[in-house]
Amino acid sequence: GIVYRQGALGRRPAVPTDAAELERRARRRMSAAAWAYVAGGAGEGATVRHNRAAFDRWRLVPRMLHGVTTRDLRTEVLGTRLDAPVLLAPVGAGALVRRDSDVLIARGAAAAGTPYILSNQGCSPMERTARAMGRTPFWYQLYWSTDERLVDSLIGRAEACGAQALVVTLDTTMLGWRPQDLNLGSLPFARGQGIAQYTSDPRFMEIVRERSQQPATGPRPPVTLGALRTLVSIAREHPGGFLANLRSREPRAAVETFLDIYSNPGLSWAHIETLRGRTRLPILLKGILHPADARRALSAGVDGIIVSNHGGRQVDRTIAALDALVQVRDAVGTAATVLFDSGIRTGADVALAMALGADACLLGRPHLYGLALAGADGVRQVIENVVAELDLTMGLAGVANLAELTPAVLQPAP
Ligand code: FNR
Repeated sequence: GIVYRQGALGRRPAVPTDAAELERRARRRMSAAAWAYVAGGAGEGATVRHNRAAFDRWRLVPRMLHGVTTRDLRTEVLGTRLDAPVLLAPVGAGALVRRDSDVLIARGAAAAGTPYILSNQGCSPMERTARAMGRTPFWYQLYWSTDERLVDSLIGRAEACGAQALVVTLDTTMLGWRPQDLNLGSLPFARGQGIAQYTSDPRFMEIVRERSQQPATGPRPPVTLGALRTLVSIAREHPGGFLANLRSREPRAAVETFLDIYSNPGLSWAHIETLRGRTRLPILLKGILHPADARRALSAGVDGIIVSNHGGRQVDRTIAALDALVQVRDAVGTAATVLFDSGIRTGADVALAMALGADACLLGRPHLYGLALAGADGVRQVIENVVAELDLTMGLAGVANLAELTPAVLQPAP
């Protein structure tokens, strides 16, 4: 309401209210490397396009004269209360966009009262980002390391700093084929960005120390000057932290060790089945696209799934995430918790995804564009714009609450 009123009264917002202009303006503020990493997709970008095109295949059918004066957008997902069915997706290496990215995103999310899913590839230790969330709930997203004790350490830290759910991302056991980053030679992790969860982890640093004492065996990934610079800047931000006591070989060993163990290409259902016994938090699996995987996830004891193709960043030429949502909801029934991301840009998109069976939606790139344009305040404005449009869409379509957003309000495009 407020967003709309200000615009109608002639106030120009710092952050554009439409997705295309938001992207254009953000691009101008970002380095070539940041733009390639954030906006880029896998391969030729077909999956990125499919994600958007899928929204065009559905149309809302507004109903009139429902007397919908106010809309109730509230919901609850696995014990986390939401004022609107929107959360911020986990994003790694955000410091490419703006220094102290995680803390700024957390502040923006908290200002909008929107939960943020802290990334395992974050640029500040989760404890610090957690503090910036204040009283707004947050979840933690885990990449399953090849070191099981590191998995437990990260889960334990997430519990201790107050995460309300654990999201395990399944689709990034290896980084996808990303020509735009590769061509620029700018993959952030090889440069040491997005490794703060690790360098702040006692178990990780034990492994680094062990390895820095051993002579290197076999070929080692290159560690660039950029990586060392990032580590030095982490050390400055966290005086007395892990780097304080280290000898000069260890920062290099930290980046190398990270590249070796951050994710497990051999991740299987057997790993997932151990998870229930390792945390008291609700568990969601992110990156599910096949209905059979969705069913199996639920029978493996997880509490919810996130239908996602990682914003088209992992596998090129996959199905659109929205098409997967329809099939997955159909397969798991109405009771299961199913969240959705990949391609959401507007409030109308959220309305559509909710009508097709999502219990809530995650915003990925848009909040990073807000971050690029105006820091924490930009993140807040992006969220508020999406929620304001969702609210108007519902009101004008005769929908009073989220339960009324069902396939009945949609038609396939002719
Ligand atoms: C991501 N995504 C992601 N997912 C995850 O589980 N852990 C992570 O660390 C990251 N990192 C990341 C960085 C950047 C720059 C982007 C754009 C995305 C994927 C993210 O959580 C989400 O699935 C997609 O961004 C959703 O698609 P849209 O909204 O960007 O189209």
